[in-house]
Amino acid sequence: MPQGVRVRVSPPALSKSFSNLRSFFLIINNGQIEVSIFVFESFCIMNVEEFIPTKKNKLIENANISCIAPSNIALIKYWGKKNIQIPSNPSISFTLNNCKTTTTITFKKKTFEGLSFRFFLDGISKDSFNLKIENFFKRIICYCPYLEFYNLEINTNNTFPHSSGIASSASGFSALALCVVQFELLLYENISRNYINRKASFLARLGSGSACRSLDGGLVIWGKHKDIKQSSDLLGIKFPHEVHPVFTDYQDTILLVDKTEKQVSSSIGHNLMHNHPFASERFNQANKHLSQLIPIIKSGDLFKFIKIVESEALTLHALMMCSNPYFILMKPNTINIINEIWDFRNSTQIPVCFTLDAGANVHVLYPKSNAPEVNKFIEDNLAKYCQDGQFINDHVGNGARRI
Ligand code: PMV
Repeated sequence: MPQGVRVRVSPPALSKSFSNLRSFFLIINNGQIEVSIFVFESFCIMNVEEFIPTKKNKLIENANISCIAPSNIALIKYWGKKNIQIPSNPSISFTLNNCKTTTTITFKKKTFEGLSFRFFLDGISKDSFNLKIENFFKRIICYCPYLEFYNLEINTNNTFPHSSGIASSASGFSALALCVVQFELLLYENISRNYINRKASFLARLGSGSACRSLDGGLVIWGKHKDIKQSSDLLGIKFPHEVHPVFTDYQDTILLVDKTEKQVSSSIGHNLMHNHPFASERFNQANKHLSQLIPIIKSGDLFKFIKIVESEALTLHALMMCSNPYFILMKPNTINIINEIWDFRNSTQIPVCFTLDAGANVHVLYPKSNAPEVNKFIEDNLAKYCQDGQFINDHVGNGARRI
């Protein structure tokens, strides 16, 4: 490590081709001048001024911020994106309650500028997560410039087992983003509650798209849609129209069919939508499904709800099966469960349905009033298809918060 004096040349003093450098150091070392350029590319291509602090912040030496954020399950799926983390179609999800991530960030002021963090999962240092988290910080640094003046120690844990096949990125990035914005609240006065959630959702999206839907509770929409004028490609918003009471405590039992890490990541799947033969039809369909869902959410017509939700789940997997290269994330037991659910629904007329994430696990959705019969059905008929007989009972929850 060279010792010496560091002189920072700010980007505007550099030629245009260097304009995305964050730091440029001259290091005088034993009389020799070394030039060290820290290529710290800023991803801040979209100048969303609303989220760039302009005022001078207070000086804080240390802070400890803890936040808890839930996962969410999409009813209309986001599959396909444009640069950077802009969805190709709008999506809507139920915020969950029990599948959650708790994150604590310890901020310690430091003397030199530059990003510096350490990440721990369940108290153990996890370098394998560093690249994803570093990319996240690179994307958000222009909205949170104060981060460059602190060492961050990030401690995180999930309520669901890490190797359960449940993606922790939605709850993980929303908890992380909320910690950052709560820290901003200490540095800048007069930040509104509305701004905190909007900015946290905006930042969370830059870590994992679906994470922006985990800040608010109930039903959350992300992506511009013609019938919802407040909707945005940049952040999730609470469903602004009337919601039938049946959806306020909807149940979601997650059947753990396959607890291993999936072979194809969501990022690869999203990218395969660029050359997908059915991409534009799919994006039209998602928009149409959302238009159809708005009055259903108001009326509580569960059989119409089921038609859209199951169609979305199967469309997501059908898109995977006909992308290039094609792939299958469902397992034989995923199909077994779907057939059991259809048989049970036909014979009982109980409005239970399924949805799927980008994986083999099945989310069983049903109204709270039907929980006794559906829970018995799950125990008797579906648990046998789960790895180690494991499933997680969850329901619609209230979103992320500071603890
Ligand atoms: O947020 P990502 O990049 O992990 O993508 C999530 C994609 C789906 O879970 C399949 C659908 C969705 O809208 O949540």
